[in-house]
Amino acid sequence: MLIRWNGQPFASTDVSDPVTKLAYQTLQQGKSILGLAHKEVSTRLMELVAPDASSSTVAVPPEMISALRTSMDALVELDWKEAQEGLYSTSLLFDAPWLDWVTRYPLVWLDLPAIWQRRSRRDVRDLPNDINPQAYPDYYLQNFHHQTDGYLSDRSAELYDLQVEILFNGTADAMRRRVIAPLLEGLRSQAPQAAHPRILDVATGTGRTLRQLRGALPDAQLVGLDLSTAYLRQANRWLSELPGELPQLVQGNGEDLPFADNTMQAVTCVFLLHELPGEARQKVINEAWRVMEPGGVLVLADSVQLKDSPEFSPAMENFRRVFHEPFYRDYITDDINERLGNAGFEQISALSYFMTRVWSCRKPSVIS
Ligand SMILES: C[S@@+](CC[C@H](N)C(=O)[O-])C[C@H]1O[C@@H](n2cnc3c(N)ncnc32)[C@H](O)[C@@H]1O
Repeated sequence: MLIRWNGQPFASTDVSDPVTKLAYQTLQQGKSILGLAHKEVSTRLMELVAPDASSSTVAVPPEMISALRTSMDALVELDWKEAQEGLYSTSLLFDAPWLDWVTRYPLVWLDLPAIWQRRSRRDVRDLPNDINPQAYPDYYLQNFHHQTDGYLSDRSAELYDLQVEILFNGTADAMRRRVIAPLLEGLRSQAPQAAHPRILDVATGTGRTLRQLRGALPDAQLVGLDLSTAYLRQANRWLSELPGELPQLVQGNGEDLPFADNTMQAVTCVFLLHELPGEARQKVINEAWRVMEPGGVLVLADSVQLKDSPEFSPAMENFRRVFHEPFYRDYITDDINERLGNAGFEQISALSYFMTRVWSCRKPSVIS
């Protein structure tokens, strides 16, 4: 199979290339072990030197660990399969800023004492002094997952990708790539098909989802929006390494998108919903509907929820207890299908992959 990168032949792999597949599986296993080891050692250290910072957690049954392992293996298998089917380049499976991460890893450790101090003080609004609080919604002005500076500094943006990679045991990009198949399907079914579809990624952060989309859609016009200029700066650094057209990066609020009606063929939004209060969640979905052309596709990806993955409820409960995620409890019981329906979307479907649920839906071609 000929793998293309930005429209150019990139590499040729046999569909049954066992060596590349083994390399990918080994890479994922290695990342998983490193992620688990990091969390185990850092938690032990925190309990030792900053016991006040620890949170009580619920017991995790062994069956859940084995179910997590099985669904993570299924995610890796599906990721490999979709790359082999040509949905995106196999090179994406190995894509990561390795050198950057190796050099930044010590900074993740150096940041821990400050995080433990904030956790001990139960301080979740420790943000840089130079920000203008009026420029952001109040719910945003917090240290989500105890992130130093919240989302509001270059230092935070520089560490974010590595921290997320550790949190998800190396599966963050594989989970983000789950938006690609429903996105491609939605774009394919549009008539007329756009040669350069305009795709907006809401809450793009450091642009990892845009990077995955570029690997699947070399000719698309990509737009990323986020409230954090620091995260957009980091996104710009990563994305400008890629060949081809640079995605447009826009600072703004997903609740009030700075784009005209009916101007996007597709909208994606990854790992945002659980960080929003319910009302803001609905506004973001309504705005996606507004800016999308009739017939457009919306793909959302976020944490699994209690209803679809009850077997992982201890993991969801511990995530909420250990990390500062003020809206997560509300999110995991929220009815996203209903919110999508309220906004006017139809053909709503959802599937879960490991710890991520992906919703896909369409704006009707004919609006009554
Ligand atoms: C958990 S991160 C996810 C980032 C990215 N989508 C990813 O997959 O890594 C949440 C992101 O949402 C952004 N965000 C939060 N509330 C927002 C809002 N109302 N409008 C736009 N971006 C927002 C944050 O700045 C942050 O970059």
